[in-house]
Amino acid sequence: MRYKKLGLVNTRDMFADANAHDYAIGAFNFYNMETLTAILAAARATHSPVILAISESAIDYIGYEMLMAMIRGANIKQNEQIALHLDHGHSYESCARAIDMGFSSVMIDASNMSFEKNIELTKRVVKYAHRYNVSVEAELGAIAGFEDKNTHSSKSIFTDPVMASEFVAQTRIDSLAVAIGTSHGAYKRKYGHEKLRFDILSEIDNLLPGFPIVLHGASTVPGKFIRTINNNGGDINGANGIPPVQLRHAVKMNVCKINQDTDNRLAFTAALRKNFTQHPDTVNPREYLGMAKTAVYENTVNAIINIMNSANKLRHC
Ligand code: G3H
Ligand code: 13P
Ligand code: ZN
Repeated sequence: MRYKKLGLVNTRDMFADANAHDYAIGAFNFYNMETLTAILAAARATHSPVILAISESAIDYIGYEMLMAMIRGANIKQNEQIALHLDHGHSYESCARAIDMGFSSVMIDASNMSFEKNIELTKRVVKYAHRYNVSVEAELGAIAGFEDKNTHSSKSIFTDPVMASEFVAQTRIDSLAVAIGTSHGAYKRKYGHEKLRFDILSEIDNLLPGFPIVLHGASTVPGKFIRTINNNGGDINGANGIPPVQLRHAVKMNVCKINQDTDNRLAFTAALRKNFTQHPDTVNPREYLGMAKTAVYENTVNAIINIMNSANKLRHC
């Protein structure tokens, strides 16, 4: 199955338009029917392009056939400008399978390999993907962030702009994920106010003018979710994220794709915990999963409007 038959689009035109008009495309991770339908509903309600991102482990959780049946069931239309993206693909085989199943975009994440091996593997993926007009994202540098107890390595490897420019020239990728101080998960920073390395973004833009840049690990970790979780039996003290103002600044520069997973995980979890506290007698999963779905929908609408600035940005509408 090829992605056009599923009503999907690749990310090329999305990124060109986003860069030209100071907005970014949100790449929101999903892992079940509730998160998929909530993200889609948020994109549809705000008339925003969106990237449905799914990791290898989430694909394993759902199962490929079930996943693609859900995508078919979502009845996506080309003019809705929705991409289906493999997040952090770790091998050529994984990316090729996603492309064959109907994904319109893949990420090959060989950032833990040497520069040369990263180029070699990325080039192989690009060759296969571009045969079917599928977009490819790759990563250079370690998206670790600031030194803290949750960063497994004690050093952050920020992206080197000169290497980035050589990497793009050699691989012919469509977008590049860079390390400028973001990191995955709910515990991103030691102090909470550290600045992203906008100087690196600027240098990259000088060397690769207008080239689409991606930020992973860009959840904001809203305090309201942390408080609700902790007040209802959870224990995630010390969680913090990237301040929205810094993300908005990055969007005005060359960043045109922003990845968020953790914020919707927090929204989902907070809604469940609150529901179980308020209704200790509840045993109907449709009730509490329905509330979690609504929470993901509301958080995604908020991110589209207030971080991505992508509401009402569907082209030709
Ligand atoms: O960047 C990674 C995403 O947050 C996906 O995580 O492999 O647990 O689904 P996951
Ligand atoms: P967060 O953990 O900050 O949500 O990042 C998600 C991500 O980068 C998915 O690729
Ligand atoms: Zn990521």
